Amino acid sequence: MTAAKREPWLLTPGPLTTTAETKKAMLHDWGSRDEEFNETNARVRRRLLAIAGAQDSHVCVTLQGSGTFIVEAAMATLIPRDGKSLVLINGAYGKRMAKILDYLGRSYVSQETPEDTPCDAGVLDQALAADPAITHVLVVHCETTSGLLNPVEAIAAVTAKHRRGLIIDSMSTFGALPLDVKSVPCDALMASTNKCLEGVPGMGFALIRRAAIEPAKGNAHSLSLDLYDQWTAMEKTRQWRFTPPTHVIAAFDKALDQFEAEGGVKGRGGRYADNCRILVGGMREMGFKTLLPDEIQAPIIVTFLTPADARFDFQVFYDSLKNRGYVIYPGKLTVADSFRIGCIGALSETEIRGALDAVRATIAEMGVADRAPGNG
Ligand SMILES: Cc1ncc(COP(=O)(O)O)c(C=O)c1O
Repeated sequence: MTAAKREPWLLTPGPLTTTAETKKAMLHDWGSRDEEFNETNARVRRRLLAIAGAQDSHVCVTLQGSGTFIVEAAMATLIPRDGKSLVLINGAYGKRMAKILDYLGRSYVSQETPEDTPCDAGVLDQALAADPAITHVLVVHCETTSGLLNPVEAIAAVTAKHRRGLIIDSMSTFGALPLDVKSVPCDALMASTNKCLEGVPGMGFALIRRAAIEPAKGNAHSLSLDLYDQWTAMEKTRQWRFTPPTHVIAAFDKALDQFEAEGGVKGRGGRYADNCRILVGGMREMGFKTLLPDEIQAPIIVTFLTPADARFDFQVFYDSLKNRGYVIYPGKLTVADSFRIGCIGALSETEIRGALDAVRATIAEMGVADRAPGNG
Protein backbone atom coordinates (compact mmCIF):
# COMPACT_ATOMS: atom_id res chain seq x y z
CA MET A 1 0.00 0.00 0.00
CA THR A 2 1.45 3.43 -0.84
CA ALA A 3 1.54 6.22 1.73
CA ALA A 4 -1.15 8.17 -0.11
CA LYS A 5 -3.55 5.19 -0.14
CA ARG A 6 -3.39 4.18 3.50
CA GLU A 7 -5.21 6.16 6.15
CA PRO A 8 -3.09 9.13 7.19
CA TRP A 9 -1.38 9.17 10.58
CA LEU A 10 -2.72 12.02 12.67
CA LEU A 11 0.10 13.93 14.34
CA THR A 12 -2.44 16.22 15.98
CA PRO A 13 -3.65 16.90 19.52
CA GLY A 14 -6.86 14.93 19.03
CA PRO A 15 -8.91 13.53 17.52
CA LEU A 16 -5.93 11.32 16.97
CA THR A 17 -4.95 8.01 15.44
CA THR A 18 -6.71 5.10 17.15
CA THR A 19 -5.99 1.39 16.81
CA ALA A 20 -8.02 -0.98 14.62
CA GLU A 21 -9.15 -2.76 17.80
CA THR A 22 -10.61 0.46 19.19
CA LYS A 23 -12.38 1.28 15.93
CA LYS A 24 -13.72 -2.29 15.60
CA ALA A 25 -15.40 -2.01 18.99
CA MET A 26 -17.89 0.36 17.37
CA LEU A 27 -19.33 -2.24 14.99
CA HIS A 28 -22.25 -3.00 17.29
CA ASP A 29 -25.35 -1.20 18.41
CA TRP A 30 -26.19 -1.04 22.11
CA GLY A 31 -29.43 -0.28 23.85
CA SER A 32 -28.78 2.64 26.16
CA ARG A 33 -30.85 1.07 28.97
CA ASP A 34 -29.39 -2.39 28.45
CA GLU A 35 -27.61 -3.94 31.43
CA GLU A 36 -24.60 -5.00 29.36
CA PHE A 37 -24.07 -1.40 28.28
CA ASN A 38 -24.63 -0.15 31.84
CA GLU A 39 -21.89 -2.48 33.03
CA THR A 40 -19.46 -1.19 30.37
CA ASN A 41 -20.30 2.35 31.42
CA ALA A 42 -19.72 1.58 35.11
CA ARG A 43 -16.42 -0.18 34.32
CA VAL A 44 -15.15 2.81 32.32
CA ARG A 45 -15.97 5.17 35.19
CA ARG A 46 -14.17 2.93 37.70
CA ARG A 47 -11.10 2.65 35.48
CA LEU A 48 -10.83 6.42 35.05
CA LEU A 49 -10.82 6.95 38.81
CA ALA A 50 -8.11 4.32 39.22
CA ILE A 51 -5.80 6.13 36.76
CA ALA A 52 -5.70 9.13 39.11
CA GLY A 53 -5.64 7.06 42.33
CA ALA A 54 -8.98 8.72 43.09
CA GLN A 55 -11.26 5.77 43.94
CA ASP A 56 -11.67 6.74 47.58
CA SER A 57 -11.85 10.51 47.31
CA HIS A 58 -13.45 11.37 43.96
CA VAL A 59 -16.34 10.39 41.71
CA CYS A 60 -16.24 10.08 37.93
CA VAL A 61 -18.89 12.00 36.02
CA THR A 62 -19.10 11.52 32.27
CA LEU A 63 -20.74 13.84 29.75
CA GLN A 64 -21.56 13.82 26.05
CA GLY A 65 -19.60 16.21 23.85
CA SER A 66 -16.10 17.48 23.24
CA GLY A 67 -13.60 18.56 25.88
CA THR A 68 -14.96 22.09 26.19
CA PHE A 69 -18.35 20.70 27.27
CA ILE A 70 -16.90 18.91 30.29
CA VAL A 71 -14.71 21.89 31.21
CA GLU A 72 -17.71 24.21 31.11
CA ALA A 73 -19.90 21.70 32.94
CA ALA A 74 -17.38 21.15 35.75
CA MET A 75 -16.90 24.89 36.21
CA ALA A 76 -20.65 25.57 36.18
CA THR A 77 -21.32 22.79 38.66
CA LEU A 78 -18.50 23.33 41.13
CA ILE A 79 -18.07 27.08 41.29
CA PRO A 80 -20.97 28.56 43.26
CA ARG A 81 -22.76 31.50 41.69
CA ASP A 82 -21.21 33.81 44.27
CA GLY A 83 -17.78 32.16 43.99
CA LYS A 84 -14.72 33.95 42.67
CA SER A 85 -12.15 32.26 40.46
CA LEU A 86 -8.52 32.93 39.72
CA VAL A 87 -7.66 31.71 36.22
CA LEU A 88 -4.04 30.99 35.36
CA ILE A 89 -3.60 31.77 31.67
CA ASN A 90 -0.76 31.11 29.25
CA GLY A 91 -2.58 30.02 26.14
CA ALA A 92 -5.89 29.49 24.38
CA TYR A 93 -7.32 26.96 26.85
CA GLY A 94 -6.72 29.15 29.90
CA LYS A 95 -8.35 31.99 27.97
CA ARG A 96 -11.26 29.70 27.16
CA MET A 97 -11.89 29.05 30.86
CA ALA A 98 -12.03 32.81 31.43
CA LYS A 99 -14.49 33.10 28.52
CA ILE A 100 -16.64 30.37 30.07
CA LEU A 101 -16.74 32.38 33.30
CA ASP A 102 -17.86 35.42 31.26
CA TYR A 103 -20.71 33.34 29.82
CA LEU A 104 -21.58 31.98 33.26
CA GLY A 105 -21.52 35.49 34.70
CA ARG A 106 -19.25 34.40 37.55
CA SER A 107 -16.66 36.64 39.07
CA TYR A 108 -12.97 36.05 38.35
CA VAL A 109 -9.51 37.51 38.14
CA SER A 110 -6.75 36.18 35.93
CA GLN A 111 -2.99 35.86 36.10
CA GLU A 112 -1.53 35.79 32.63
CA THR A 113 1.98 34.79 31.61
CA PRO A 114 3.32 34.67 28.01
CA GLU A 115 2.63 31.57 25.89
CA ASP A 116 6.16 30.26 26.46
CA THR A 117 6.22 30.83 30.23
CA PRO A 118 4.77 28.45 32.85
CA CYS A 119 2.40 29.90 35.41
CA ASP A 120 4.04 30.84 38.68
CA ALA A 121 3.10 29.21 42.00
CA GLY A 122 4.86 31.97 43.97
CA VAL A 123 2.77 34.70 42.35
CA LEU A 124 -0.34 32.59 42.94
CA ASP A 125 0.60 32.27 46.61
CA GLN A 126 0.71 36.06 46.97
CA ALA A 127 -2.57 36.55 45.11
CA LEU A 128 -4.40 34.02 47.29
CA ALA A 129 -2.97 35.55 50.46
CA ALA A 130 -4.09 39.00 49.30
CA ASP A 131 -7.63 38.05 48.27
CA PRO A 132 -9.59 35.78 50.63
CA ALA A 133 -12.67 36.11 48.36
CA ILE A 134 -11.08 33.78 45.77
CA THR A 135 -12.76 30.39 46.12
CA HIS A 136 -11.28 28.51 43.14
CA VAL A 137 -8.06 28.34 41.12
CA LEU A 138 -8.26 27.16 37.51
CA VAL A 139 -5.25 25.82 35.63
CA VAL A 140 -4.46 23.95 32.40
CA HIS A 141 -1.98 21.08 32.87
CA CYS A 142 -0.48 21.07 29.37
CA GLU A 143 -1.35 24.19 27.36
CA THR A 144 -1.96 22.46 24.07
CA THR A 145 -1.66 25.87 22.37
CA SER A 146 2.10 25.55 22.66
CA GLY A 147 2.78 22.17 24.33
CA LEU A 148 3.88 23.88 27.54
CA LEU A 149 3.73 21.98 30.83
CA ASN A 150 2.39 23.95 33.77
CA PRO A 151 3.67 23.08 37.28
CA VAL A 152 0.41 21.61 38.59
CA GLU A 153 2.01 19.99 41.64
CA ALA A 154 3.28 23.36 42.90
CA ILE A 155 0.00 25.07 41.98
CA ALA A 156 -1.95 22.37 43.84
CA ALA A 157 0.26 22.68 46.93
CA VAL A 158 -0.21 26.46 47.10
CA THR A 159 -3.96 26.22 46.48
CA ALA A 160 -4.35 23.54 49.17
CA LYS A 161 -2.28 25.62 51.62
CA HIS A 162 -4.80 28.45 51.19
CA ARG A 163 -7.74 26.02 51.38
CA ARG A 164 -9.20 27.00 48.02
CA GLY A 165 -10.61 24.65 45.37
CA LEU A 166 -8.46 23.65 42.39
CA ILE A 167 -9.91 22.76 38.98
CA ILE A 168 -7.44 21.30 36.48
CA ASP A 169 -8.01 21.06 32.74
CA SER A 170 -5.95 17.94 32.13
CA MET A 171 -7.44 17.36 28.70
CA SER A 172 -4.21 16.73 26.85
CA THR A 173 -2.24 15.01 29.64
CA PHE A 174 -4.58 12.61 31.42
CA GLY A 175 -3.24 9.08 31.01
CA ALA A 176 0.17 10.18 29.73
CA LEU A 177 1.59 12.26 32.58
CA PRO A 178 1.27 11.30 36.24
CA LEU A 179 -1.62 13.11 37.91
CA ASP A 180 -2.48 11.38 41.16
CA VAL A 181 -4.97 13.26 43.32
CA LYS A 182 -3.04 12.28 46.44
CA SER A 183 0.01 14.26 45.32
CA VAL A 184 -1.95 16.83 43.28
CA PRO A 185 -4.96 17.56 45.49
CA CYS A 186 -7.80 19.00 43.41
CA ASP A 187 -11.55 19.45 43.44
CA ALA A 188 -11.76 18.33 39.83
CA LEU A 189 -9.77 17.37 36.80
CA MET A 190 -11.30 17.05 33.37
CA ALA A 191 -10.31 15.24 30.18
CA SER A 192 -11.87 13.58 27.16
CA THR A 193 -11.89 10.25 25.38
CA ASN A 194 -9.95 11.35 22.32
CA LYS A 195 -6.63 12.43 23.81
CA CYS A 196 -3.98 10.37 25.60
CA LEU A 197 -6.31 7.48 26.37
CA GLU A 198 -6.66 7.07 22.58
CA GLY A 199 -10.42 6.71 22.30
CA VAL A 200 -12.63 8.32 19.69
CA PRO A 201 -14.14 11.78 20.21
CA GLY A 202 -17.54 12.30 21.80
CA MET A 203 -17.28 12.11 25.58
CA GLY A 204 -15.65 14.08 28.38
CA PHE A 205 -15.20 13.08 31.99
CA ALA A 206 -14.49 14.83 35.25
CA LEU A 207 -13.03 13.30 38.38
CA ILE A 208 -14.59 15.34 41.14
CA ARG A 209 -13.83 15.30 44.83
CA ARG A 210 -16.83 13.83 46.61
CA ALA A 211 -16.80 16.66 49.15
CA ALA A 212 -16.94 19.21 46.30
CA ILE A 213 -19.79 17.66 44.32
CA GLU A 214 -22.03 16.76 47.26
CA PRO A 215 -22.85 20.41 48.07
CA ALA A 216 -23.02 21.44 44.37
CA LYS A 217 -26.75 20.98 43.83
CA GLY A 218 -28.28 24.03 42.16
CA ASN A 219 -25.00 25.69 41.11
CA ALA A 220 -25.28 24.89 37.40
CA HIS A 221 -27.01 27.30 35.05
CA SER A 222 -27.82 24.56 32.55
CA LEU A 223 -29.67 21.25 32.80
CA SER A 224 -27.60 19.37 30.25
CA LEU A 225 -24.29 20.60 31.75
CA ASP A 226 -25.28 19.97 35.38
CA LEU A 227 -22.78 17.38 36.58
CA TYR A 228 -24.46 17.13 39.98
CA ASP A 229 -27.65 16.00 38.29
CA GLN A 230 -25.71 13.77 35.88
CA TRP A 231 -23.86 12.13 38.78
CA THR A 232 -26.83 11.56 41.08
CA ALA A 233 -28.97 10.19 38.23
CA MET A 234 -26.22 7.82 37.07
CA GLU A 235 -25.55 6.61 40.62
CA LYS A 236 -29.22 5.92 41.14
CA THR A 237 -30.11 4.25 37.84
CA ARG A 238 -26.70 3.23 36.35
CA GLN A 239 -28.02 4.95 33.23
CA TRP A 240 -27.35 8.23 31.46
CA ARG A 241 -29.94 10.98 31.80
CA PHE A 242 -29.96 11.65 28.05
CA THR A 243 -28.87 9.59 25.01
CA PRO A 244 -25.36 8.30 25.78
CA PRO A 245 -22.58 8.13 23.18
CA THR A 246 -22.79 4.32 23.24
CA HIS A 247 -20.24 3.63 20.51
CA VAL A 248 -17.75 6.07 21.97
CA ILE A 249 -18.00 4.37 25.37
CA ALA A 250 -17.64 0.87 23.92
CA ALA A 251 -14.55 1.96 21.97
CA PHE A 252 -13.19 3.71 25.08
CA ASP A 253 -13.52 0.53 27.13
CA LYS A 254 -11.34 -1.24 24.53
CA ALA A 255 -8.92 1.68 24.42
CA LEU A 256 -8.58 1.39 28.21
CA ASP A 257 -7.74 -2.34 27.86
CA GLN A 258 -4.88 -1.34 25.58
CA PHE A 259 -3.83 1.47 27.91
CA GLU A 260 -3.57 -0.97 30.81
CA ALA A 261 -1.76 -3.56 28.67
CA GLU A 262 0.79 -0.88 27.74
CA GLY A 263 1.58 -0.33 31.42
CA GLY A 264 -0.80 2.53 32.22
CA VAL A 265 0.50 6.08 32.60
CA LYS A 266 4.12 4.91 32.77
CA GLY A 267 3.97 2.92 29.54
CA ARG A 268 1.83 5.39 27.63
CA GLY A 269 3.81 8.40 28.80
CA GLY A 270 7.05 6.60 28.01
CA ARG A 271 6.03 5.96 24.40
CA TYR A 272 4.96 9.58 23.97
CA ALA A 273 8.22 10.81 25.51
CA ASP A 274 10.15 8.67 22.98
CA ASN A 275 7.99 10.04 20.15
CA CYS A 276 8.68 13.58 21.32
CA ARG A 277 12.43 13.07 21.67
CA ILE A 278 12.76 11.50 18.22
CA LEU A 279 10.57 14.19 16.64
CA VAL A 280 12.38 17.15 18.22
CA GLY A 281 15.81 15.64 17.53
CA GLY A 282 14.95 15.00 13.87
CA MET A 283 13.43 18.44 13.30
CA ARG A 284 16.37 20.21 14.97
CA GLU A 285 18.76 18.23 12.76
CA MET A 286 16.97 19.77 9.79
CA GLY A 287 17.39 23.25 11.30
CA PHE A 288 13.88 23.80 12.71
CA LYS A 289 13.56 25.53 16.08
CA THR A 290 11.11 24.67 18.85
CA LEU A 291 9.20 27.42 20.62
CA LEU A 292 9.91 25.92 24.03
CA PRO A 293 13.07 24.79 25.79
CA ASP A 294 13.03 21.06 26.58
CA GLU A 295 12.51 21.60 30.34
CA ILE A 296 8.98 22.95 29.91
CA GLN A 297 8.00 20.93 26.83
CA ALA A 298 5.30 18.33 27.52
CA PRO A 299 5.63 15.15 25.41
CA ILE A 300 2.22 15.82 23.91
CA ILE A 301 2.56 18.30 21.06
CA VAL A 302 5.53 20.34 19.87
CA THR A 303 5.41 23.87 18.45
CA PHE A 304 7.96 24.61 15.73
CA LEU A 305 8.62 28.16 14.60
CA THR A 306 7.89 28.88 10.96
CA PRO A 307 11.10 29.25 8.92
CA ALA A 308 11.72 32.81 7.75
CA ASP A 309 12.65 31.52 4.25
CA ALA A 310 10.03 32.98 1.86
CA ARG A 311 9.72 29.61 0.10
CA PHE A 312 8.10 28.13 3.22
CA ASP A 313 4.34 28.22 2.85
CA PHE A 314 2.41 26.40 5.59
CA GLN A 315 -0.46 25.30 3.35
CA VAL A 316 1.91 23.82 0.76
CA PHE A 317 3.89 22.13 3.57
CA TYR A 318 0.69 20.76 5.14
CA ASP A 319 -0.76 19.47 1.84
CA SER A 320 2.48 17.80 0.85
CA LEU A 321 2.79 16.04 4.24
CA LYS A 322 -0.83 14.95 3.99
CA ASN A 323 -0.21 13.52 0.52
CA ARG A 324 2.62 11.56 2.08
CA GLY A 325 0.25 10.24 4.74
CA TYR A 326 0.90 12.55 7.73
CA VAL A 327 -1.53 15.15 9.07
CA ILE A 328 -0.03 17.94 11.21
CA TYR A 329 -1.59 20.96 12.89
CA PRO A 330 -1.45 24.70 12.34
CA GLY A 331 -0.01 26.95 15.05
CA LYS A 332 -2.25 28.74 17.51
CA LEU A 333 0.19 31.22 19.00
CA THR A 334 -0.51 34.91 19.18
CA VAL A 335 3.18 35.79 19.51
CA ALA A 336 4.88 33.91 16.68
CA ASP A 337 4.18 32.13 13.40
CA SER A 338 4.36 28.42 14.02
CA PHE A 339 3.05 24.97 13.31
CA ARG A 340 2.55 22.00 15.63
CA ILE A 341 3.28 18.29 15.42
CA GLY A 342 1.66 15.94 17.90
CA CYS A 343 3.33 13.03 19.71
CA ILE A 344 0.14 11.38 20.98
CA GLY A 345 -2.16 8.70 19.58
CA ALA A 346 -1.47 5.18 18.36
CA LEU A 347 1.93 6.16 16.95
CA SER A 348 5.44 5.11 17.78
CA GLU A 349 8.98 5.43 16.50
CA THR A 350 8.23 4.07 13.00
CA GLU A 351 5.50 6.63 12.34
CA ILE A 352 7.53 9.51 13.82
CA ARG A 353 10.55 8.59 11.70
CA GLY A 354 8.21 8.29 8.69
CA ALA A 355 6.90 11.78 9.42
CA LEU A 356 10.46 13.13 9.64
CA ASP A 357 11.27 11.57 6.25
CA ALA A 358 8.14 13.22 4.84
CA VAL A 359 9.17 16.63 6.28
CA ARG A 360 12.68 16.20 4.81
CA ALA A 361 11.32 15.35 1.36
CA THR A 362 8.77 18.16 1.49
CA ILE A 363 11.15 20.97 2.42
CA ALA A 364 13.62 19.76 -0.21
CA GLU A 365 10.81 19.87 -2.78
CA MET A 366 9.77 23.36 -1.61
CA GLY A 367 13.39 24.55 -1.78
CA VAL A 368 13.41 25.76 1.85
CA ALA A 369 17.14 25.89 2.42
CA ASP A 370 17.09 27.86 5.69
CA ARG A 371 14.71 26.48 8.33
CA ALA A 372 15.54 29.02 11.02
CA PRO A 373 12.77 31.38 12.15
CA GLY A 374 12.82 35.19 11.79
CA ASN A 375 15.78 36.12 13.93
CA GLY A 376 17.23 32.65 14.20
C1 LIG B 1 -6.03 21.62 27.26
C2 LIG B 1 -7.29 21.58 26.46
N1 LIG B 1 -8.43 22.00 27.01
C3 LIG B 1 -9.59 21.99 26.35
C4 LIG B 1 -9.66 21.53 25.05
C5 LIG B 1 -10.96 21.60 24.34
O1 LIG B 1 -11.37 20.40 23.84
P1 LIG B 1 -12.36 20.31 22.59
O2 LIG B 1 -11.69 20.97 21.41
O3 LIG B 1 -12.49 18.82 22.45
O4 LIG B 1 -13.63 20.98 22.98
C6 LIG B 1 -8.49 21.08 24.41
C7 LIG B 1 -8.50 20.60 23.03
O5 LIG B 1 -7.50 20.31 22.41
C8 LIG B 1 -7.29 21.10 25.15
O6 LIG B 1 -6.13 20.68 24.60
